[in-house]
Amino acid sequence: MCGIVGYTGPRDAGPILLEGLRRLEYRGYDSAGIALVTESGELFVEKKAGKLANLQTAIADRTPNAAIGLAHTRWATHGKPSERNAHPHCDCGKKIYLVHNGIIENYKELKADLEKIGHKFSSETDTEVLAHLIEEYKKQVPLKEAVWRTLAHVQGTYGLAIIDRSEPEKIFVARNGSPLVLGVADDGYIIASDIAPIVRYTNQVIYLEDGEMAEVTPCSFQVTNFKRKKVEKEISKIDWTLEEAEKKGYDHFMLKEIIEQPESMQNAIRGRLVAKEGMAKLGGLRDVADHLREMKRLVIVSCGTSYYAGLVGKYMFEEYAGIRTEIEYASEFRYRKPILDKETVVLAISQSGETADTLAAIREAKNKGAMTLGIVNVVGSTIARETDAGVYNHAGPEIGVASTKAFTSQLSILALFTLFLGRQRDMSFVMGKRIAEELSKVPEQMKKVFKDSQHIKRISKKYSGFSDFLYLGRKYNYPIAMEGALKIKEIAYVHAEGYPFGEMKHGPIALIDENFPTVAIATRDSVYEKTLSGIQESKARGGKVVAVATAGDKSIAKLVDDVIYIPKTLEMLTPLLSVIPLQIFAYYSAVQKGLDVDRPRNLAKSVTVE
Ligand code: AGP
Repeated sequence: MCGIVGYTGPRDAGPILLEGLRRLEYRGYDSAGIALVTESGELFVEKKAGKLANLQTAIADRTPNAAIGLAHTRWATHGKPSERNAHPHCDCGKKIYLVHNGIIENYKELKADLEKIGHKFSSETDTEVLAHLIEEYKKQVPLKEAVWRTLAHVQGTYGLAIIDRSEPEKIFVARNGSPLVLGVADDGYIIASDIAPIVRYTNQVIYLEDGEMAEVTPCSFQVTNFKRKKVEKEISKIDWTLEEAEKKGYDHFMLKEIIEQPESMQNAIRGRLVAKEGMAKLGGLRDVADHLREMKRLVIVSCGTSYYAGLVGKYMFEEYAGIRTEIEYASEFRYRKPILDKETVVLAISQSGETADTLAAIREAKNKGAMTLGIVNVVGSTIARETDAGVYNHAGPEIGVASTKAFTSQLSILALFTLFLGRQRDMSFVMGKRIAEELSKVPEQMKKVFKDSQHIKRISKKYSGFSDFLYLGRKYNYPIAMEGALKIKEIAYVHAEGYPFGEMKHGPIALIDENFPTVAIATRDSVYEKTLSGIQESKARGGKVVAVATAGDKSIAKLVDDVIYIPKTLEMLTPLLSVIPLQIFAYYSAVQKGLDVDRPRNLAKSVTVE
């Protein structure tokens, strides 16, 4: 959701910033822009609408050497995607340039006031008021204080980086609600929305907290809070490697991340699954284990794919750990009046750890006195830092906007968590052992699904002419139907509805005819027979059916038009396998249409605004 990057130090800033934007482009790609302070103290600014490539082409032969600069890749909120609205934005004097991730909610009032006193605006964005406000305050106080006063004046969220020609050796960065990381390299400082642009240069980082501002020069930095007090910051070490963030010869990050799932799942369970004891050891929960033993109710908050993982988790927790579990879209939770008490624990699930709605939900839960936990992939992200305890996915960087490997690692951790909570309660050793043993087999079983990739590709081609799909699943596979529908919607722009199978007859069945195929998840489990009846109902209305079924189920092949088989596992673990054909199906559906799989239109990887 907008990516910002800045550099100050002895190296040439331009290439570092462009490379940084390339790594941040998954956060938004409506426009890109750069501002450099050249060696002669001049400002070089260029912006282009559309993807980063347009900016790169525009400045290819004329990027000046510069020791300091800022750059931005935009996901439009206020003002359409255009060159005019691209960041960096500047003041009237064209001295102050800034890049912003977030939303300034009171920008209209501020803009009107500033216009009354003569400020001329050149964009439709909320961001531009910040540059004009700083310009205005600078008439009375030095730059740093002008930035503080500006921030005190605005409502909303920001990750912000500012340069000013009058103090050309400095970058000011400030954070409120949108992430900002400062990379401390041997040769200079890199600030960015996340660690992706930083990892190439250093593994030493500082996470800025809300209400903090850093003044960064080529050889020093100082962090202060809104009381103008110096804050001592701890340097954290990041463990993601540059190699993990590369495509490694795959056509798309999404495909690479699909194929990585056996490995990322293995990383999620390694050292945590104690198969012979039928237990899970979750170091991040050690300090809260007693509290979890007493917990009476669990509320899961998350969004999108992470929400569907949570829905699978609800089924697991209730069936195997006997814990009353509710799940809620984080965006709804924050605006209603959730009933929470000391015996309720709120669990946030988030790949990025920065999703604004999920973050707000856990803040609300904390305010109401509930313990909060996180299942988060990005180490050091805000949700990971703000929850009382949690478990990291260890899935490595997920760059494709469509979440794949993060989802299966979330499911793996939810299974571990079920074991952990279940064994604290009534789950028998035998059941614990069974779950643990089956879970440890899943990474190898995933590889078997990949052997069918060409078959799935052919099916996606066969169905490429359809513009609507119904995805159906029951029990553990109902969330997978939702996830499958989300995947094809977001990357192939195909209308798809995910439904619990039993709900089909209550409405969606009216849609079914020869132009409205069904993707049915029909694995051999406790609801198999019921699922078959649903398939019969679709077929009776002339609808085509693609089934995801259990290996060896020959009879289903006679009933449906196409089948994709997955290996047999424990019912609660089926989603780890049944989702993979749906990811591959969506992937090839998008590729066949020539779409930009990793950067689907209108989306951004990390949604840090409401
Ligand atoms: C998934 O494919 C999506 N792009 C999106 O729904 C995502 O899962 C959602 O925005 C939540 O993100 P998070 O896991 O980083 O919180």
